[in-house]
Amino acid sequence: MNSYQSAPSRLIKSPEAIEKMRVAGRLAAEVLDMIKPYIVPGVTTLELDTRCHDYIVNVQNAIPACLGYGGGHGRPAFQHSICTSVNHVVCHGIPADNKVLKKGDILNIDVTVIKDGYHGDTNMMYVVGGETTILADRLCKVAQEAMYIGMETVRAGSFVGDIGYAIQKYVESQRFSVVREYCGHGIGTVFHDDPQILHYGQKGTGMRLEAGMTFTIEPMVNAGVWQTKTLGDKWTVVTKDHKLSAQYEHTLLVTETGLEVLTARPDEDLSRFHG
Ligand code: MF3
Ligand code: CO
Ligand code: CO
Repeated sequence: MNSYQSAPSRLIKSPEAIEKMRVAGRLAAEVLDMIKPYIVPGVTTLELDTRCHDYIVNVQNAIPACLGYGGGHGRPAFQHSICTSVNHVVCHGIPADNKVLKKGDILNIDVTVIKDGYHGDTNMMYVVGGETTILADRLCKVAQEAMYIGMETVRAGSFVGDIGYAIQKYVESQRFSVVREYCGHGIGTVFHDDPQILHYGQKGTGMRLEAGMTFTIEPMVNAGVWQTKTLGDKWTVVTKDHKLSAQYEHTLLVTETGLEVLTARPDEDLSRFHG
C-alpha cells in the first residue's frame, strides 16, 4: 500500500532563503572545524562550549540556537551553545566543568547557529586523544556511513521513508541499532520543523521530497539496544544499557537530482553526492 504526503508549500524554500541557509550551514560547519584542536585529554566540555559560544557570537556574529532553547512543560531551557555527548550519552549532553575528557572517549558535538534568521544544524564525532577501542571506532564510522547512506536516497521524488529504511537496513546489518525516539527535522527559520526524518522505517512512505526542501539527517547509532532514557536534568539522553552511542548530522537541500550538503566541512569527502 502506498501512503505518502505532498510537501506543504511553506516547506519549499525560495532562492533567497536557500542562499541564507547556505550561509548558516557553512557557519555551523566552521564551528565543528574550529573546535577540533581543542578536543584533547584534560579539557572539560564546558571549556569547549565557552569557546564555541564566543566564536559564534563574536567571530561569526551569529546566534547559538541551543542557548535558551526548549524550556517548558517542566523542563528548563538548555543553558549552553552546543551539546556535548560523551560515550554512552546519545544526545543533548550538557557541557559541564566537571566533565573532563580522557583519552579514548568518543565525543559528539552538536551545533546549531542562526544567521540572518536561518538555522544551520550539524554534528560529528571526535575521538579524544586520537585513539579509541576497535568497537568505538567502528561505531563512529558506521554512524557516519549511516548518515551518508540515508543521504544517497535523497532527491526530488523520493520519500522521507526511503531515508529511514536505508539507514536502518545498513545499521542493523552491522549488528548495531538505530535510536527511535529522536529524529531529523525540517529546518529553516524554524529550528525543528516538518517533516520528521525518522532513521528507520519503510520505503515509499511519508512525505514526498521536493526540490527546495531543507532538513537534517542525524542518525544516532547504538552499540547495544536502541532504547534510551533521559536523566534527571531532563536533557541528557543515555543508552538504556549504557553501551556506546554515536551520531552524525548534516543540514541538506533537496535538488532535482540529489542534494546539496549545506553543512559540508572542507576536509569531508562528499564526492559520492551530486546536486
Ligand atoms: N541540535 C539538536 C538537533 O540536532 C537539537 C539540540 S536542542 C538543545 O536537532 F537544546 F539540546 F540544544
Ligand atoms: Co538537528
Ligand atoms: Co543538531
